[in-house]
Amino acid sequence: MSEFLPFRGANVLLRDVTLEDADLLDEWNRQREVGGFNDFGPREPIPREPLMEGPLRNERNGTLMIERIADGVPIGTVGWRRVTVYGPSPWSDAWQIGIELVPEARGMGLGAEAQRLLADWLFEATDVSRVEASTDIENVAEQRSLEKAGYVREGVARGSQFRAGGYHDLAYYSRLRSDT
Ligand SMILES: CC(C)(COP(=O)(O)OP(=O)(O)OC[C@H]1O[C@@H](n2cnc3c(N)ncnc32)[C@H](O)[C@@H]1OP(=O)(O)O)[C@@H](O)C(=O)NCCC(=O)NCCS
Repeated sequence: MSEFLPFRGANVLLRDVTLEDADLLDEWNRQREVGGFNDFGPREPIPREPLMEGPLRNERNGTLMIERIADGVPIGTVGWRRVTVYGPSPWSDAWQIGIELVPEARGMGLGAEAQRLLADWLFEATDVSRVEASTDIENVAEQRSLEKAGYVREGVARGSQFRAGGYHDLAYYSRLRSDT
């Protein structure tokens, strides 16, 4: 996958995760709020060995740090993984993205900027034509953030996500390479 990193917006940039970030990522995982929209139970510590080899990204998935430009402080992560459910041709593959900001960085438009940047970067660095995101229908902040980032709402996948002891409806959004 091509580089072009760090990938800069007005207020945040996306950069590779490094070994120096591993302790911070573990700390964020320990502090994760129980019952949030990303509460899938305890997470494993970040594996150090792959980080000694290089960035946390390959042809199937990846993670980047979101850094606030004003003070150079990391404020969260964006991730993506290849989804192959739309047809047998590799030209049907899409990227499904996810995001998490630390609580003190939320509600300031930084999530929208990071998600806009991630799609822009994926369109530049890969030949995939669709970037999609899904979120719990009760996660109003993420839905609004995606809309501000240029993603178009497509519909609701009913009862599609099992989380925290029950099934949840997910709202689906996408950006296409052909979108203006
Ligand atoms: C979801 C998340 C990435 C959004 O990023 P953000 O920087 O906080 O969001 P933004 O500031 O870009 O936009 C949030 C928008 O939602 C609105 N909003 C926030 N909470 C809301 C609520 N409870 N009800 C209605 N609107 C809400 C804000 O007013 C803002 O819209 P506006 O700019 O038109 O006023 C971030 O809050 C986060 O990391 N949350 C925890 C993890 C998570 O839910 N990740 C996504 C899982 S799929």
